[in-house]
Amino acid sequence: MAKKPWGGRFQGGTEQEVEAFTSSLDFDRRLYLQDIAGSQAHARMLARQGIIAPEEAEAIVRGLEEIRAEIEAGEFGWDPALEDVHMAVESRLTHKVGEVGRKLHTARSRNDQVALDVRLFLAGEVEGLVADLTELRRAGARLARRHLGVLMPGYTHLQRAQPVLFSHHLLAYDEMWRRDQARLNESLARIRVSPLGAAALAGTTFPIDPQFSAEQVGFPEVFRNSMDAVSDRDFLLEFLAHASIIMVHLSRLAEELVLWSASEFGFVELPDAYATGSSIMPQKKNPDVPELIRGKCGRVCGNLTGLLMTCKGLPLTYNRDLQEDKEPLFDTLDTVKAAVRLATGLLGHLTIRPEGMRAALTGGFLTATDMADYLAAKGVPFRSAHEMVGRTVRQAEAQKKELWELSLEEIREFAPQTEPDLFDWLKVENSVARRTSPGGTAPVRVAEVLARVEEELEL
Ligand code: ARG
Repeated sequence: MAKKPWGGRFQGGTEQEVEAFTSSLDFDRRLYLQDIAGSQAHARMLARQGIIAPEEAEAIVRGLEEIRAEIEAGEFGWDPALEDVHMAVESRLTHKVGEVGRKLHTARSRNDQVALDVRLFLAGEVEGLVADLTELRRAGARLARRHLGVLMPGYTHLQRAQPVLFSHHLLAYDEMWRRDQARLNESLARIRVSPLGAAALAGTTFPIDPQFSAEQVGFPEVFRNSMDAVSDRDFLLEFLAHASIIMVHLSRLAEELVLWSASEFGFVELPDAYATGSSIMPQKKNPDVPELIRGKCGRVCGNLTGLLMTCKGLPLTYNRDLQEDKEPLFDTLDTVKAAVRLATGLLGHLTIRPEGMRAALTGGFLTATDMADYLAAKGVPFRSAHEMVGRTVRQAEAQKKELWELSLEEIREFAPQTEPDLFDWLKVENSVARRTSPGGTAPVRVAEVLARVEEELEL
């Protein structure tokens, strides 16, 4: 069994169950690159400040470089007795370069070390996720471009409400994804703060230069309070919250894809490569991918809640509870990245059924608001116009007719101000075309927004 780096004050070994319970090696080895980069930065700082000799720092940096190669080649022996990635790497370092390896931990603690590792790791992942979201937005924008002009019912309360452009509906998601990207980008400023130099909690007696360490790892900012630096996990809570919002957005889209692909709607057909069959019902094509995107939303939101609970009530400063931050982080990242990529694939290969959308535009009096607008434009107070149209709708419904199938005389019974041009207003195309207000669904407005989105996405 490996000797524990903290073994000095202990007599006898650790209970095996305790070792298994406290070890984070199985998951935190994922941080090896960041751990090595952080240690190299620290060693260089120590040498620059005259705390260790330049040759010592060089030996450490080189040794760590070799360890990186060993890990990447799958030759690194991860000893479970070594508790975590920090001790596994450091112990291997000492094994390779000798006594000088034992100087690396001068003026440092695993508390500032692990905080740095996670921050470095997350910064890279956040940048990757922003890029993945760009691909998702591109798939959405391409789909919107391809079907510009297709009409569908817009819904409120899942009841058909007013005709809209399919592209308008789709571009609503682009707004969500653009905000998701903005949130992630803004959070980078708080992630990229180096805690290195906080040491265990109180700082150190050595003449360190935390600014230099931060520059070495490419972080623009340095902690201001050592106690906060080792105990702060806000940046992770924030990320989990942002990830939860991303999943909520994807889950809403997924829900619509599930609905739209059902024969009750018949608005879209899911790509075969993204659907699955039933083991008993040969005719089935199931929307498992959107269903799982929707389902995994719960898991990501659960990770946020879990870490909030872990952090609540923790006294300052570092507590081992904080080791519980990594699994929800990794799980969230894996889940969100997969969900974003799969949503990208779904949109990229989705078949649109304009005739299904068109069929849903009849039967629901979707242009009733247009008739009310028509009367209001003629000077009828909108509330009165609303009531007149309501009565007209009731009449049409009783006769099992569309509004435009009533005669002018019949309509005039309820709305005497009506002229023959009303029938123009009742057409779904015209209803959409007239909604030219800013951000509205008129083709001219949607085309403007789409052009701006395409420019942002370099399409
Ligand atoms: N594995 C630990 C974690 O993830 C590293 C820090 C341990 N620090 C300590 N004082 N025991 O939080």
